[in-house]
Amino acid sequence: MTEAVYVETQGCQMNEYDADRMVDVLVSEAGFRRVDAPEQADLLLLNTCSVREKAQEKVFSQLGRWRRLKDRAPETLIGVGGCVASQEGDAILRRAPYVDLVFGPQTLHRLPEMVARRRAGGGPQVDVAFPEIEKFDRLPEPRATGPTAYVSVMEGCSKYCSFCVVPYTRGEEISRPVADVLAEVEALAAQGVREVTLLGQNVNAYAGRLRDGSAGDLGLLIEAVAAVPGIDRIRFTTSHPAEFHAGLVEAYREVPELADFLHLPVQAGSDLLLRLMKRGHDTAAYEALVAELRAARPSLALATDLIVGFPGETEEHFTETMALIDRVGFDAGAFSFIYSPRPGTPAAALHDPTPQAAKRERLHRLQARIAEQQAAAAQRLLGTVQSVLVEGVSRRSAAELRGRTSCNRVVNFPGDPALVGRFAEVRISGVRTHSLRGELEAVEQPAAAGAAATGA
Ligand code: SAM
Ligand code: F3S
Repeated sequence: MTEAVYVETQGCQMNEYDADRMVDVLVSEAGFRRVDAPEQADLLLLNTCSVREKAQEKVFSQLGRWRRLKDRAPETLIGVGGCVASQEGDAILRRAPYVDLVFGPQTLHRLPEMVARRRAGGGPQVDVAFPEIEKFDRLPEPRATGPTAYVSVMEGCSKYCSFCVVPYTRGEEISRPVADVLAEVEALAAQGVREVTLLGQNVNAYAGRLRDGSAGDLGLLIEAVAAVPGIDRIRFTTSHPAEFHAGLVEAYREVPELADFLHLPVQAGSDLLLRLMKRGHDTAAYEALVAELRAARPSLALATDLIVGFPGETEEHFTETMALIDRVGFDAGAFSFIYSPRPGTPAAALHDPTPQAAKRERLHRLQARIAEQQAAAAQRLLGTVQSVLVEGVSRRSAAELRGRTSCNRVVNFPGDPALVGRFAEVRISGVRTHSLRGELEAVEQPAAAGAAATGA
């Protein structure tokens, strides 16, 4: 009987990627199979996030629920991975002594050994080291689960923004060699993947080695990935405005496979707050970069991250953030959150006199403005024809397909499930709150994958 693993993941796309890699390594090296219900599992894995306090609190309530499963089936193992594990290490065992494995984002490839040692009576296993790039050398080739896939190209972050735990939980920036990334993309393309998202906590700091030993950059990597047969759409996330090199702006001009979308966190519209956040850029630099990008790619849709209520944020500072939002226009939305003090980060020591209620009210105002911008951008798409990668059957109706535009909008439209994995030309006919509706105009012919669309 093969053993069963259940993984629950919190937080960012990086964590989603890591959760799939945990399953891959357990399936290929330890004969596990993945299950969708915790009750069926022999091994329960929680991949945690510590970027805000709320996420961190959820960890122990989830572990408490799993403890009851373990009480009924004492052979069940419980593992905690991700950023909370990395930060807390064996302190997790003090608070939840029934946990069997604690592993960090850089040691998840060691799971099979950790499980074996625990099963052999080795006591709870804790391994939260940062063993450089070993993780990628040890992971099996990823299996595609549809026409889109994530590919992690670098790990960690060396920016040390004053509010953020990531550099402490995931370690310093380290890039995979260009050849390794390309081999992974080629393997995914051979399994039918058409769109890849290049992932990194600070992905435009990518500096992977080229074959001649020199350092590559993200612009070069995007060009190389675009040349892989079958790959016709490329995204990357998340980027930092301070390291957005000219070559990457050029990629928006030169590489048609690069999607009309960019997630470029700005955090705030006040230069004083940006300095306190240690962002390494001011509002003028951010806006100049956006102007360059829009000149290179006029159809670019822009999304961002915003923090409301950073220590010392006054109503005036907040007004500056609202003004920046109006000037820039985040037509693809924003992830916005109230600042959450994180233990061990410099900002946690700053005086923060603003009441939570005032912060909540600011957040609501900001989110309403962003929602208006997003809705207006959706209206502008009405009547246009968009290239949509068909990702699957619509969640609402089996007679409809679901896909995404280059600018990252979900579109539902009537069509044949045989089109999944192909690019379709879809005329946008309706706008819903979180998605668009469309009518199929033309589809790419299967034999000509990667070629221009022709009549349906
Ligand atoms: N590389 C990205 C950048 O250039 O900013 C950010 C990655 S960070 C893990 C994701 C987002 O979480 C940040 O952009 C920020 O908005 C948010 N975040 C991080 N720490 C936070 C905190 N202490 N409180 C609230 N939001 C936070
Ligand atoms: Fe965090 Fe700033 Fe890096 S937000 S992930 S320290 S760029």
